[in-house]
Amino acid sequence: MKIWLDGGLQDSESARVSAFDHGLTVGDGIFETVKAVDGKLFALTRHLDRLTRSARGLGLPDPDLDEVRRACAAVLAADPMPLGRLRVTYTGGHGPLGSDRGEHGPTLLVALGESARRPDSTAVITVPWTRNERGALAGLKTTSYAENVVALARAREQGASEALFGNTVGQLCEGTGSNVFVVLDGEIHTPPLASGCLAGITRALTVAWTGAKETDLPLDVLDRADEVFLTSSLRDVQAVHRVDDRELPSAPGPVTAKAMRIFDERSGHDQDP
Ligand SMILES: Cc1ncc(COP(=O)(O)O)c(C=O)c1O
Repeated sequence: MKIWLDGGLQDSESARVSAFDHGLTVGDGIFETVKAVDGKLFALTRHLDRLTRSARGLGLPDPDLDEVRRACAAVLAADPMPLGRLRVTYTGGHGPLGSDRGEHGPTLLVALGESARRPDSTAVITVPWTRNERGALAGLKTTSYAENVVALARAREQGASEALFGNTVGQLCEGTGSNVFVVLDGEIHTPPLASGCLAGITRALTVAWTGAKETDLPLDVLDRADEVFLTSSLRDVQAVHRVDDRELPSAPGPVTAKAMRIFDERSGHDQDP
């Protein structure tokens, strides 16, 4: 397996990042996860735009997007696979042991892992921990993801594949690695960006392609929604058949099934929408 590091392809077994890399020591980094189908990346331009936005949000220098594109192409060409998760990681680089950033410049790493097509429906749980919609990292895709690690582990313990967070004022926010949508009276709703959720690329495309509304929703909307679904780069649109103890046995319901179909069609026609 090859990864891109220090400006070129390297063997993933022997590639080395500094033990003082600020991404490792304090989670000072950002990332993107991009779907790769038969070696082709989906919505790469949107992912690169968000990478730049996240870098600016953290005060990191703008990533060199020409290098990121070259890195992605090189990594994909080195290890062909039908469905891949391409991961771009960009950190503060070698730095001091505390929270001050060093002056060595950032680290860019691009890696690819094989992925399996997700099932059409899944189970989720809600967790008691909150997303901080007023935090310095709200809306940024940073490598400070340990809260997501804890929440996702809780979900796995309960036979679910995702954990959903409310925010500090009790509104529905997002999952550890996905955005959430609900169907109420035949209409699709998703929390607005002000809820503190990530501006998911699949979310934005789903809103544009289905006319879903951005609505403040209380967390307990999950107790009464007719249908619930998730979106993310690797899930696309995925129905939810259980939320905590509440079964939604007909998942994917009719509105979700239509959203899944629309997403498949539109994304199949345009690789970089
Ligand atoms: C916290 C969080 N929310 C939402 C998403 C979904 O975003 P996207 O559709 O761009 O993959 C992700 C991506 O993995 C995420 O990490």
